[in-house]
Amino acid sequence: GDVRLWGGRFADGPAEALAKLSASVHFDWRLAPYDIAGSRAHARVLHKAGLLTRDELTRMIVGLDQLEADVADGSFTGTIADEDVHTALERGLLERLGPELGGKLRAGRSRNDQVATLFRMYLRDHSRIIGGLIAELQDALVGLAEAHPEVAMPGRTHLQHAQPVLFAHHVLAHVQSFSRDAERLRQWDERTAVSPYGSGALAGSSLGLDPEAVAADLGFERGSAGNSIDGTASRDFVAEFAFITAMIGVNLSRIAEEIIIWNTKEFSFVTLHDAFSTGSSIMPQKKNPDIAELARGKSGRLIGNLTGLMATLKALPLAYNRDLQEDKEPVFDSCDTLEVLLPAFTGMMATLTVHRERMEELAPAGFSLATDIAEWLVRQGVPFRVAHEVAGECVKECEAQGIELDQLTDAQFAAISEYLTPDVRTVLHVSGALASRNGRGGTAPSAVAVQLAEVKADLLIQ
Ligand code: ARG
Repeated sequence: GDVRLWGGRFADGPAEALAKLSASVHFDWRLAPYDIAGSRAHARVLHKAGLLTRDELTRMIVGLDQLEADVADGSFTGTIADEDVHTALERGLLERLGPELGGKLRAGRSRNDQVATLFRMYLRDHSRIIGGLIAELQDALVGLAEAHPEVAMPGRTHLQHAQPVLFAHHVLAHVQSFSRDAERLRQWDERTAVSPYGSGALAGSSLGLDPEAVAADLGFERGSAGNSIDGTASRDFVAEFAFITAMIGVNLSRIAEEIIIWNTKEFSFVTLHDAFSTGSSIMPQKKNPDIAELARGKSGRLIGNLTGLMATLKALPLAYNRDLQEDKEPVFDSCDTLEVLLPAFTGMMATLTVHRERMEELAPAGFSLATDIAEWLVRQGVPFRVAHEVAGECVKECEAQGIELDQLTDAQFAAISEYLTPDVRTVLHVSGALASRNGRGGTAPSAVAVQLAEVKADLLIQ
């Protein structure tokens, strides 16, 4: 029969071209379990309001349970003629309960408040799935840091050698940014725990239904929407979710870029496990960091999902407009993208081999201890402006001679400045430079141990 929800006023069904344009079942079908949960909650408030008898409620719940099972095993699916998941499931219920009882459920609700509620439920579930996957990545990164507690590497700014840092310190820097992403997800989830059910099409319901009861039933800790227009029209929760997932993508892309660089012949800092790298169809020697490259690439897609969504929302008048049907695919894609990317990325990070000798060989290169000369001079009472100048002279001299700082002779040091006594050599090695940066957040092994303990404690509550 005719599945349209608006038969009464229309003499003709929709043109095929309209049906094709309008259909969303192919992407909103994943909301079906949430739609059915919403229908159960709605049936209960209809009963509470005296609009369904006890017996009707019982039969309604049985019908919804049956429909849920049929959706789960694939024996009931939506079609293009259904338009969307909500309409398809209404048809499914009518088929199971008959038009008399099946036709009672739609009272006091609209697809506008339905979809706004279900979409929140879906994204809240996925915020937790993604949060769990981030925690697994953080565990892998913490494991990598713990497995190499004392390894030094060149710390960089502008991709140039800057100062030596602990490899563990560098890895934990990434863990910190993922902690903020995880926190963003938790705070978003808390903010999104408001149910639009009961808002109806935009103005609320005249049937005495209890939106707070529906909210509690569906797990919305903060109750029901305080404004039915906002409840049906607002999508900032979607945009914010898209931002958080894009930020996660961007953070992944930053490690990815480092892995790609570290994995080159020139750097040779890491080797990727065979199971997490790919070969070339023509060049037998190749072993490529495809996971890192895909992470870098997919961050673009995640950003695109955010910007596309923002463009869709811009200047939309209140309340519901059909434009809003465009809100789902981008963030469904963001969920799907991260849910396949994160496990692969975690596997890559958990299994890579670190080449300690290579990192430590390069840690002091590029005159990365010049700052230590300057700070040693300051400790001798030399003003920093002079100390900076003197250390710079040392670098100039080394560059002219093609040597490193610790290869300057006592005489050469003395010729550069009277302050440069042979004692300056005490700071011209990496371990001394690292150990001296022992303030909170610094790269000294003792400070990194504190950071590691804090990060691990955080991960336990996260
Ligand atoms: N499928 C629509 C969406 O996802 C919900 C239906 C609301 N349609 C309507 N004509 N009011 O936004």
